[in-house]
Amino acid sequence: VATTPPPEKLLGFTAVSKSLADTVVVPAGYTASVLYALGDPLTANTPAFKNDGTDTDFENRAGDHHDGMEFFPLSSTGAASTTAVDRGLLAVNHEATTDEKLSSFFLHANGGTMSLPRPAAEVDKEMALHGLSVAEVRRNGAKWEYLKDSGFNRRVHQQTDIELSGPVRGNALVVTKYSSNGTKIRGTLNNCGTGKTPWNTYLSGEENWAGYFTRAGTDNAARDDKSVVSLNRYGRSQGAASRHGWETGGTDDKYARWNISKTGASQDGSDDYRNELNGMGYIVEMDAYDKTRAIKKRTALGRFAHESASFGKLVVGQPLAVYMGDDSRNEYIFKYVSNAVWAAADATAADRIATGDKYLDNGKLYVARFNADGSGQWIELSISNPAIAGYAGYKFADQADVLVNARLAGDAVGATKMDRPEWCSVHPTTGEIYFTLTNNSNRRAEPSGSSQSAPDAANPRAYTDMKGTAAQQGNVNGHIIRVREGAAGSAATGFTWDIYLFGAEADAAPGTVNLSGLTVDQDFSSPDGLAFSTATGICWFQTDDGAYTDVTNCMMLAGVPGQVGDGKKVTLTYPRANGSTLSVDTYVGKAATADTLKRFLVGPVGSEITGIAETPDGKALFVNIQHPGETTLAANAADPAKYTSQWPANAGYGAGKRPRSATIVITKNDGGRIGT
Ligand code: FEO
Ligand code: CA
Ligand code: CA
Ligand code: CA
Repeated sequence: VATTPPPEKLLGFTAVSKSLADTVVVPAGYTASVLYALGDPLTANTPAFKNDGTDTDFENRAGDHHDGMEFFPLSSTGAASTTAVDRGLLAVNHEATTDEKLSSFFLHANGGTMSLPRPAAEVDKEMALHGLSVAEVRRNGAKWEYLKDSGFNRRVHQQTDIELSGPVRGNALVVTKYSSNGTKIRGTLNNCGTGKTPWNTYLSGEENWAGYFTRAGTDNAARDDKSVVSLNRYGRSQGAASRHGWETGGTDDKYARWNISKTGASQDGSDDYRNELNGMGYIVEMDAYDKTRAIKKRTALGRFAHESASFGKLVVGQPLAVYMGDDSRNEYIFKYVSNAVWAAADATAADRIATGDKYLDNGKLYVARFNADGSGQWIELSISNPAIAGYAGYKFADQADVLVNARLAGDAVGATKMDRPEWCSVHPTTGEIYFTLTNNSNRRAEPSGSSQSAPDAANPRAYTDMKGTAAQQGNVNGHIIRVREGAAGSAATGFTWDIYLFGAEADAAPGTVNLSGLTVDQDFSSPDGLAFSTATGICWFQTDDGAYTDVTNCMMLAGVPGQVGDGKKVTLTYPRANGSTLSVDTYVGKAATADTLKRFLVGPVGSEITGIAETPDGKALFVNIQHPGETTLAANAADPAKYTSQWPANAGYGAGKRPRSATIVITKNDGGRIGT
């Protein structure tokens, strides 16, 4: 007798509770397994990871701080595929390391050197831990495993040659001793969010790269003022120490390059690294299937603190749109529109990097302005725009200068300062674009100084206490905004928007803070990673939270959103010291229900949940656990009893007890799709 399985129900699982346990929690009926962790060997000859601070050869191991990630299917014969479900390549961003006072302490036997100069051996290790990796993974029965000896495995780190591509290539701003014609740079740094092109390549966003460099406080007279304006606008000041002191590792160029002071005599920067900072901060494209092909920084997409890059709905004969956020307080949302129009045959083009050249090297970059009436504009960042050409704050030389200094160009045209734009993703059916705005401690009803800004319609919350402490001011819990393009689609210059969800604790005031009506099964704070499943349409999003960690570790939720305009207008009011009231109108989407939003996963202690990738059938979901145990003190690096987390060792994975960033794979025990 044939039996019919029960119909699949999206969000049919039982929500998981908030958790402070040092483990990964998923709903009943699901299994989460550790797949690929910091230090895992990527060649047959690389020794097993001892995880005691004595390991070396990180150019052939998984890097640290797994972040964004994409799955590239492989056919049974090892060919690039868009449909294979049992075998593929995971391309992974290795954003950073767990550090304190310069040193990545879990990677060194004694916690490492906390003062300058840093020993070369420690610097070499730390440089190798940052970048990208590609690892082959396969399903073996019910279990997934990574293959340490696959020929596809690859590491990209700070000594890897990367091409500069697009309008900035060859510009005076990127001339260095390493590339006197300004066409290449070594390495990609602080890789955070990801994207996947319609032609099956990997995109990686370079985020907090600026902090790895140092420029002497006495460097001013030897340089033009423009470079100081640019340095300051990207969050750095002259004389500020670099994050790890890599420039002190030795006299070799590979260390010297992190010092962007003028040390040579040239006029053009070809004898030192004064321009090195201009080679970081891009969307990077890599063909995960072919390690013989050049990796390219796509400069036409602008230079800022990149997170993910998400393509708008594809329409044959129309340009491609790529959406992006700049994650820093009060920074902007961007859209790139290609000059080339989409040709369906390019989805399976044999030369994927040449396809990237076609779509990603020639186009227009726009920045978003959100209006109080729920409309918005994309403003082109062009040197021919009088507001940019005549900007008093910075004299742009050419279009390459506009792209390198996209933040300054956004200032020039009056773009809307947002609450830290992190990931974005495009709804597979509505085509609307969702952006996480993780939080903003500098959003204040009465801003003071240039770093703070007042609430506006798109960033409306600016409380002094959202059930947090007085130290947690501003928009503590973040929100998710979404955009519907105008009739011109990818090329539209006008849009409408609303706020899909406001992060909040369930018992926060419903009329002012918990505006989406979150219950204990749904409450979250500081949304960061976000990606729609192309298999189920579920909107997965993840948290990177500092305000809520007394109550729960970071988490991942599953949403089934409606669309822009399905909710209502809300007016928030703020009393001011002078007795007046500031009133802000905003637009909030339909309140969450048990059918539209559920907590799916909670991670181990001290971790951020990030990275979302799936097999094309939606039956395996890959997620990254980033920096478990980062709250451990460096002085305790060799004392497991004092680690704040021992994950994934406590989940039975690998040697040693030092916590490790890792990729997990989630499967449903009945073989069904994830999130049902
Ligand atoms: Fe690397 Fe903005 O998160
Ligand atoms: Ca992020
Ligand atoms: Ca974050
Ligand atoms: Ca993090």
